[in-house]
Amino acid sequence: MKIGIVGVGHIGKTLARKLSAAGHDVKVANSRGPDTIEADVLAFGGRAVSAAEAVADVDVVILSIPMNRLPEVATLIANVPAETVVIDTSNYYPQRDGRIDAIEAGQVESLWVAEQLGRPIVKAWNAIGSDSFAKKGKPAGSPGRIAIPVAADSERDRKVGMALVEDTGLDAFDAGTLAESWRQQPGTPCYCTDITREEMAAALAAADAARSPKRRDLSFEAVMERMSGSGRTNPDAEYVVRLNRALFM
Ligand SMILES: NC(=O)c1ccc[n+]([C@@H]2O[C@H](COP(=O)([O-])OP(=O)(O)OC[C@H]3O[C@@H](n4cnc5c(N)ncnc54)[C@H](OP(=O)(O)O)[C@@H]3O)[C@@H](O)[C@H]2O)c1
Repeated sequence: MKIGIVGVGHIGKTLARKLSAAGHDVKVANSRGPDTIEADVLAFGGRAVSAAEAVADVDVVILSIPMNRLPEVATLIANVPAETVVIDTSNYYPQRDGRIDAIEAGQVESLWVAEQLGRPIVKAWNAIGSDSFAKKGKPAGSPGRIAIPVAADSERDRKVGMALVEDTGLDAFDAGTLAESWRQQPGTPCYCTDITREEMAAALAAADAARSPKRRDLSFEAVMERMSGSGRTNPDAEYVVRLNRALFM
């Protein structure tokens, strides 16, 4: 497929590498311009372009930028044809994104994103930590392969998202509609806990909407303390999974 990725940070970089390695025709962009994209993003193929070029003439757009910056790309996305599948990886962290009143009042994060962009989206790759994503992918059928939920209102779009998730070394789990996607938000049992396909249905069912934000904030504080002075912003997979399993499951 022809894929445009906007955002090549912790998650977007691995998306670019894995989807290129899987044979897709990938373009990538950040906010600062193609010259600033590091060579390892393009190690398996792909081209660095402007954000406007990244979303032009592609089958799929993947947005992998902080949630509070999504409104900045709304104008770009408005020009993308309706049949292009738009996938979003974002999560709401008020400590990073600032307070978003609608989400604080209970709006599902993916529905807020769809509203900002003025079009339907697929929610995918939001529920895997960046280090697990970079290091723990496996071929389909491997024992213990990590599963992640994929939500969308359109069956066609969800299928496209799920196929691409499989191409990045993960089992794709059909998590239903965007309205149900609060079950894969930060603080829920499936969120960055590296569970398998067999464990996913029970994890989604066990999600607790009232408690997830509190659990998300506890995890955020612990991660910030852990990273303090390290110069890094994301902890390693082993720490994230141990912490989140203890807090969220
Ligand atoms: N980190 C994780 O473990 C993780 C896991 C799952 C999901 N997520 C979610 O995925 C999203 C990305 O997270 P991340 O950790 O990969 O972020 P990150 O490391 O901070 O990278 C953000 C990327 O977005 C780009 N960007 C920001 N605003 C932009 C704009 N207006 N136009 C084009 N590019 C823009 C940045 O480009 P510049 O550097 O040029 O500004 C950068 O390449 C977030 O919503 C996050 O919550 C993260």
